[in-house]
Amino acid sequence: MTAAADLRRIDLCAAADVPPGTMKLCELEDELVLVTNVGGAYHATQGICSHEYFELDRGVLTGDSILCTLHLSRFSLADGEVIDPPAELPLVVYPVVVDGGRVLIEVPAGPLEVNR
Ligand code: FES
Repeated sequence: MTAAADLRRIDLCAAADVPPGTMKLCELEDELVLVTNVGGAYHATQGICSHEYFELDRGVLTGDSILCTLHLSRFSLADGEVIDPPAELPLVVYPVVVDGGRVLIEVPAGPLEVNR
């Protein structure tokens, strides 16, 4: 179990930059994080598809899932699970905190976890 002291918060973007029904790809260290807003609920997932290299903001938001338009895999935004293949690995989901009008993720110290 990770102690709270080992967690860090990373600022991704302004909450206002991601209105309901939209998404934004945020650059972070060496990774990309996709922030989505589903009816006012923010989600953050890895920004690159787990199947091959494709930036997911070039995909389509379909309610509470994201469709990767390169090979049509679909993923749940809530838990990252694969809804439609060919992808086999889920997207990594990062816990979101909205604070002071900013969207942040709270993740363990060290490299950001990503499924490839
Ligand atoms: S790269 Fe996303 S489904 Fe293939």
